[in-house]
Amino acid sequence: MNTKRLLLNLTLMLLTLTGVKAQTPIYLDDTKPIEERVKDALSRMTTEEKVAMCHAQSKFSSAGVPRLGIPEIKMSDGPHGVRAEVNWNDWGYAGWTNDSCTAFPALTCLAATWNPEMSMLYGKAIGEEARYREKNILLGPGLNIYRTPLNGRNFEYMGEDPYLASVMVVPYVKGLQSNGVAACVKHYALNNQEVCRGWIDVNVSDRALREIYLPAFKAAAVEGGAWSFMGSYNKFRGEHACNNKILLRDILKDEWQWDGVVVTDWGGCHDTYKSAMNGLDIEMGTYTNGLTSETKFTYDDYYLGNMYLQQLKEGKIPMSVLDEQASRILRLIFRTAMNRQKPFGRFTCQEHYDVCRQIAGEGIVLLKNDNNTLPIDASKYNKILVVGENGIKNLTAGGGSSELKVKREVSPLQGLKALYGSKIDYAQGYKSGRFIYGREDVVPQDVQERLHDEAMQKAKDADLIIFVGGLNKNFHQDCEDSDRTTYGLPFGQDKLISDIVAMKKQVVLVLISGNAVEMPWVKQVPAILQAWYLGSESGNAIADVLSGKVNPSGKLPFTFPVKLEDNAAHHFGKISYPGDSIRQEYLEDILVGYRWHDTKKIVPQFAFGHGLSYTTFKYGKPTLSAKTMTANSFITVCIPVTNTGNCDGKEVVQLYIGDDQCSVVRPQKELKHFEKVALKQGETKTVTFTITPEDLQFYDNGWKTEQGRFTIYVGSSSRDIRGKETFVLN
Ligand code: BGC
Repeated sequence: MNTKRLLLNLTLMLLTLTGVKAQTPIYLDDTKPIEERVKDALSRMTTEEKVAMCHAQSKFSSAGVPRLGIPEIKMSDGPHGVRAEVNWNDWGYAGWTNDSCTAFPALTCLAATWNPEMSMLYGKAIGEEARYREKNILLGPGLNIYRTPLNGRNFEYMGEDPYLASVMVVPYVKGLQSNGVAACVKHYALNNQEVCRGWIDVNVSDRALREIYLPAFKAAAVEGGAWSFMGSYNKFRGEHACNNKILLRDILKDEWQWDGVVVTDWGGCHDTYKSAMNGLDIEMGTYTNGLTSETKFTYDDYYLGNMYLQQLKEGKIPMSVLDEQASRILRLIFRTAMNRQKPFGRFTCQEHYDVCRQIAGEGIVLLKNDNNTLPIDASKYNKILVVGENGIKNLTAGGGSSELKVKREVSPLQGLKALYGSKIDYAQGYKSGRFIYGREDVVPQDVQERLHDEAMQKAKDADLIIFVGGLNKNFHQDCEDSDRTTYGLPFGQDKLISDIVAMKKQVVLVLISGNAVEMPWVKQVPAILQAWYLGSESGNAIADVLSGKVNPSGKLPFTFPVKLEDNAAHHFGKISYPGDSIRQEYLEDILVGYRWHDTKKIVPQFAFGHGLSYTTFKYGKPTLSAKTMTANSFITVCIPVTNTGNCDGKEVVQLYIGDDQCSVVRPQKELKHFEKVALKQGETKTVTFTITPEDLQFYDNGWKTEQGRFTIYVGSSSRDIRGKETFVLN
């Protein structure tokens, strides 16, 4: 033993004998409050280490502090499953063999359940998958409001109503984060279309911003306690969202007092000074063969890399700005990567498939069911023909960053075959092109005609035809970075559907899409199901509903207009959608979705909140606890609802309020409360809602209410109103 070692050992012995122990640094001690740990870690870091945390170190991770044993942050898309591993420096897939995940139903389907319990199950299960894959941030949920049916990413969002989206997002975030994985709520804000998404300057009033576009984000931040947000690509009032003072600093961080981390969308940062000063924390995807296809830059060349360090050292940006960013990032790391209480997670297990099937079954919407065509009574049919490419197509691939590599995806054809066996035959009927980035691969006309004729030929022999069509995840359909170019169905499906119904056979239509579509044949088709992108259990869930094993209870989270011009954004022409390629004006203001249809008396094809059941529900008269309300009081509304049909079912009781006397324009009515109730055959339950003055507010330089009469509308959809009552606000 050399002298140095001897001395060291003697010192240690002495310390032990005198009771002095080596202290665990506070930041490593998880019995200490997080804020103390953050402070301690921050005090040990160099400026360079803090800056390194503020930008990417690979396509999907940002740096920790290796010297202090503080790990990096690993991220993954989101929002319907955990995306396959992507290469360190480019968008190629890494080719792992253990990263095939569970595909959960798309968020439109989750919103269509109108059941926050489903959101909790969803968040918890997807969080377990993210945790198992050792991710610290899952890039989801998506929360942008459904403004136009052409938006290619609507399927990743939760519909057109801020209240519905708010109620549904909170449990998703909580369930996900219970795994020690941060939600990254995206795309904040006003990313309501994909056309020109990188630069379009959205001009929207404060009122529409507050009443329509921000409430769900606020709910995710304040009630859900989301640990991170993703800034969007577009501009708002002349400034990119990721560098935007109003959105990030003023509203999200100051007004909502939110303590999380703002991550850019990939390539969404545009300026060093503004992004640092205005509230951005982590910059992702700027260079190195990313969205900007620039390989000669390194991660240090990011806006929040060396350029940032220089401006800090020159005193152009105060160190306190960097300290705030680093504190937020450390807080997130303690909540996630360094959280030792988090569970271990699990991946592609039966429990997750069960969650998928349950949510899909509750989210499928029965749009139409003339003469009780559904559920299918299999004993009546010998030959059931499934027609349509979506009957067999892999719909978890494609669509952009939300695409998934899955371990299992049950197609509708497989689901139906499992149920009806040899009675089932199949004809493709039409064909979509291969996915080619930036354009559509057009299928030759003669191929389409051959497929059409084959289907017609087989249909002659069938006594039930189930058409499974809709959109898919190809470019210019339900796909990131592109919007749809037409409202109608692609690949000649309209003609095929019309030709099939003209045969006067029993026909059921299953539409798979994340968007409303034009339905020129709607009157002729007796039964229509809106089936969304349902993920791993798609076919089983569709078969459950078609066969009656599951009684449908989904309700539309957005309006289906008859024609595109009936939609508010499209009503005002190009400057409203998609803009003049530089800027756009949201001229419909607060009248988005059903608010527009109701106020302007434009009858939709299918209304917001619509969805049928195999049973029927009778609503009793709503009773109010009082007929007047004051600023400090509330009114309870009780509505008895009875299942009057022949089977058990679930109904979503919806309560809307209209402000009948107001100095500003208000929508005819707005959703303020809802509840999904399970009712056995013959059973009655009373649903109770509490209305507070907050439910009556509008935004006009602050939240306000005006005295006067209000109408309460209770219904089974926004158009199927079963009871009305009025009260007065004094
Ligand atoms: C998308 C985000 C996504 C990110 C990372 C972007 O292009 O807009 O939603 O999370 O890429 O894949």
